[in-house]
Amino acid sequence: MKAVLLGTTAGGGFPQWNCACSLCVRARSGELPARSQDCLAVTGNGTDWWLVNASPDLRTQLAACPLLAPGPGPRDTPVRGALFTDAELDHALGLLTLRGGAGLTVRAPDAVLHALRDQFDLRTVIDGYAPLEWRSAESSFEVAGLRVTVIPVSDKRPKYARSSTVDGPWVVAYSFEDLASGGVLVYAPCLASWPDGFDEVVAGADCLLLDGTFYAGSEMGSATGSASGQAFMGHLPVVESLPLLERFPDVRRIYTHLNNTNPLLDPSSPESASLRAAGVEVVADGTVVEL
Ligand code: MLT
Ligand code: MN
Ligand code: ZN
Repeated sequence: MKAVLLGTTAGGGFPQWNCACSLCVRARSGELPARSQDCLAVTGNGTDWWLVNASPDLRTQLAACPLLAPGPGPRDTPVRGALFTDAELDHALGLLTLRGGAGLTVRAPDAVLHALRDQFDLRTVIDGYAPLEWRSAESSFEVAGLRVTVIPVSDKRPKYARSSTVDGPWVVAYSFEDLASGGVLVYAPCLASWPDGFDEVVAGADCLLLDGTFYAGSEMGSATGSASGQAFMGHLPVVESLPLLERFPDVRRIYTHLNNTNPLLDPSSPESASLRAAGVEVVADGTVVEL
């Protein structure tokens, strides 16, 4: 299996267009590397690739990734479709970039498929260019030489769908097992709390890509000076997940979906040093994991 971390930040990216926090200022000046919004691509057979989430930065993410380049025919692409972990805009808007692409499939939890019709009708808009196949991501299925297992995570609805009465799960994680190599990758970019049974999921993985949105729950307020800015916003902070991750030293553990206020974006911060001491990583956009 190959997995490409196409983007590694939370909604807004790094730097975020309207943010003057000290980290965004340093990214704008080039002192820290800019990063795009969370998105993954996976393949088991090396020829068929699936996006996992579709970020608003998808056009530049695809252009920067030789493994996902079009060809050999003039309109051939190795991209077969996208799996969604949730219906958040930073995970869904990239579908608009794929409009007109022939033969693509989207697989998502039922609640997400509903939201993308009932609250934010991306489905009708996209299907007006070229119809996609919209399929429920049921408990387990195969794509591109990978067995995909759906792991229900939470019922956190996007703000635009807060009034929806559709049953969850609204947020899932995915486990990808390479049917040939046996390698297992778990992708969980939106984790409100440590779900029941997640210990077993992590223990069975070779590599875990985990929600690292906030280092600490107080971060939004202290970085932006906003009194209301507390907010775990449905994301378990690193200070709480890191001690749990330390119990799995044999698993490669990588934080992703970092918010622009997160001190882990600065490799010279004390927080980054603690992470390295725990054997847990933050990696650059474009990093390829092979299992
Ligand atoms: C989230 O991850 O909590 C959402 O993407 C937030 C947002 O984009 O507004
Ligand atoms: Mn997000
Ligand atoms: Zn910022």
